[in-house]
Amino acid sequence: MDDTLLLIPGPTNLSKRVREAMAGPQLPHVGAEFYSTFKETVQLARYVFKNEKGIQFVFTGSGTIGMESSVVSLVSRGDRTLTLMNGYFGHRMLLLNETHGAKADKIEFNGGMAADPDTLRKRLRRNKYTAVFITHVDTSSSVANPVSALVEECAKAGVLSVVDSVCAIGGMPLDFDKLGADIVFTASQKAIASAPGAVLLAVSARAIEHMEKRRAPIESYYMNLLRWKPVMEDPKMYLATPATQVLLALREAMLEAKAEGIENRWERHRKLGEITRSKVEDWGQKFVAEEGHRADTVTSFWVPDGKAGPIQKTLEEEHKVMVSRGIYDDKDRMIRIGHFGILQPGTLRGALDSMGEIMERMGLTPGRVTVSSQRKKR
Ligand SMILES: Cc1ncc(COP(=O)(O)O)c(C=O)c1O
Repeated sequence: MDDTLLLIPGPTNLSKRVREAMAGPQLPHVGAEFYSTFKETVQLARYVFKNEKGIQFVFTGSGTIGMESSVVSLVSRGDRTLTLMNGYFGHRMLLLNETHGAKADKIEFNGGMAADPDTLRKRLRRNKYTAVFITHVDTSSSVANPVSALVEECAKAGVLSVVDSVCAIGGMPLDFDKLGADIVFTASQKAIASAPGAVLLAVSARAIEHMEKRRAPIESYYMNLLRWKPVMEDPKMYLATPATQVLLALREAMLEAKAEGIENRWERHRKLGEITRSKVEDWGQKFVAEEGHRADTVTSFWVPDGKAGPIQKTLEEEHKVMVSRGIYDDKDRMIRIGHFGILQPGTLRGALDSMGEIMERMGLTPGRVTVSSQRKKR
């Protein structure tokens, strides 16, 4: 397993430096070293989110804690909310709204369609919502939503907007200050390329004010963002023991992102997306996401029913490359390739060539022939 190349949509491959950051002696969460490390981590998160105006949060938990802390901190029981859905994670967001007592409305964009700002505008004219929940990239379908246009509609209607950017931040452009959303969050194990276990949120002053003035107190201890806010300002305050190794790894990963430059990182991911999409086209497969809304971090495509498992298994056995299948009902007929983090274009090309050869051998490449088979035929 050691040297398996992970092309799954998270967790992703870790650099040596990030792995080593987790291997030292236990760092106590009380003490000058942790305090300064933590402050630096929060500053680095500001860099990754381009968040100078808002409040930055970093704490222990998976991406789902980012989803749930946004819901529970903003929404009082009985509030009306709207979730835009184009895949599995939109469904989870809806479920979390329902779980916390919201009158949870939804708009489903099915069949790989991105969320449409006009449809949102019409809905916002009809109903008064407390918050709208948007997924930047739904990892199940690889649909990349037009986040700026959607957030703009929310802002025009005076509605809070929450963006789940778990599968985008660090790999696709997002400027929190310019976007104007109220909460944007991600998790450590995706394009930031650290170990799972940390959630990162950028929160607007308007969202904090809403939390302070909301009708009912926030019904959570751990996921109450108002409780975490003072800890972000002063890590000496104790709320819960942080997973120090996870945070040390996150700091290293974000230092690497900063050394690369966030815009350069977006550009590298744009290339990774382009390379993957052009291979999928060469193989003659059908994308799950509609054209123009395909993510640069993950690519999903359909394969004949029953073939996703054999493709995945053969690739892993023969080449030590791991890709993912679809979620639940789609697990036998969809392949998902995660292409983010520290991945370099040459490594991705090599792995995709291997995948193309396997699919060709299985008679699954009705499109143009792969580069490697062209080479063989010459
Ligand atoms: C878009 C999106 N949102 C939320 C999550 C949930 O994150 P986690 O599995 O870290 O709880 C994921 C996980 O893959 C995701 O892709």
